[in-house]
Amino acid sequence: MKIATIVGARPQFIKAAPVSHLLRKKKSEVLIHTGQHYDNNLSDVFFNELAIPFPDYNLGVGSGPHGEQTGAMLTAIEKILIKEKPDWALIYGDTNSTLAGALASAKLHIPVAHIEAGLRSFNRLMPEEINRVISDHLSDLLLCPTEVAVSNLAAEGITQGVHNVGDVMADTLFYAVKTAYQKSDILTRLSLAKKKYLLATVHRAENTDDHQNLKAIFIALSNVGETVVFPIHPRTRSALKSINDFSLSPNIHLIDPVSYLDMVRLESEARMILTDSGGIQKEAYWLGVPCITLRDETEWVETVQAGWNRLAGANPDLILELVQSFTPPSARPSLYGDGNAAERCVALLN
Ligand code: UD1
Ligand code: UDP
Repeated sequence: MKIATIVGARPQFIKAAPVSHLLRKKKSEVLIHTGQHYDNNLSDVFFNELAIPFPDYNLGVGSGPHGEQTGAMLTAIEKILIKEKPDWALIYGDTNSTLAGALASAKLHIPVAHIEAGLRSFNRLMPEEINRVISDHLSDLLLCPTEVAVSNLAAEGITQGVHNVGDVMADTLFYAVKTAYQKSDILTRLSLAKKKYLLATVHRAENTDDHQNLKAIFIALSNVGETVVFPIHPRTRSALKSINDFSLSPNIHLIDPVSYLDMVRLESEARMILTDSGGIQKEAYWLGVPCITLRDETEWVETVQAGWNRLAGANPDLILELVQSFTPPSARPSLYGDGNAAERCVALLN
């Protein structure tokens, strides 16, 4: 049984880590890295730190407009799939690498397994929403992290091959959290005291391409009266540079993107997390850190229902109000599985 895993962006490496380990033990895997993310701190650092098998192919596609980037991936993935003839193509999440992997495979009649299937924001302005909907409709095995995801698929008429397996990101986090405490010295490096700083990330198109939103978020962060540690995505760094009538407040510490272990340590010790990331909303929940989501909607609705995540969009008044007053309940029910999702995914790839 040969599985062609297709990944390309930071969160996909983190999701693939536990699955690829098992695939190499129990089946056979060809790992294809599209090259969508290529900076060391968005790519290699995760392969090294999480001991992800070295990619068998790196397509080196790089950055570009959606059509150009997805098209280049499609062309290159097709060639490899024809050569490798895998029994399954395995895709993750909702990036352009996911979409290209799904399209190339489906056209070659290679069955597609989608990890993190069924998530919906119901906002088609998000490129990720388009990628998810199409990828799910092309998939044969839909490996969902939640019951809500299963129902989202049912509402679109997809009921065959659908399984709630839990979230593979929980596998990675539960496995790495102890190591992060032992190995990461990021708090010392950045002179941070536990629970005395906020952690922020922003990279979504709706916040980076819309300079009004980006500026509003930074104005709110400037006024929180606390240290804000901000590992900045390159896309956000370049968007910020093009805003002329704005200067960064000294309480905001922009740092380059950090490794996974450093990120987990930063997340665990933050007083609060502000983010538009999907993965970080869940990690905040698992680590018991209150989260303010800098979006108008979330796919991870369970974290909001549990009272640990609040949506603030790019509204500076609401962001400030929540930073000062948001207190989650004491209960934090287990969400998104038990850390053994990868086992279930691999068992279903038959
Ligand atoms: C992509 C995904 C998004 C995911 C995110 C994870 C799509 C449409 N978006 O967004 O769903 O949440 O990854 O981080 O697939 N860049 C670099 N170095 C790199 C990679 C990118 O400098 O190694 C810069 C380039 O200027 C590029 C920009 O970042 O144009 C955006 O990169 P891209 O991969 O297109 O989208 P992300 O914003 O990273
Ligand atoms: N992450 C990281 N270093 C960083 C920022 C994020 O290791 O500087 C990790 C984070 O802990 C999570 C994942 O990257 O596991 C989330 O990726 P991202 O926010 O890029 O994408 P999304 O989850 O929104 O698709």
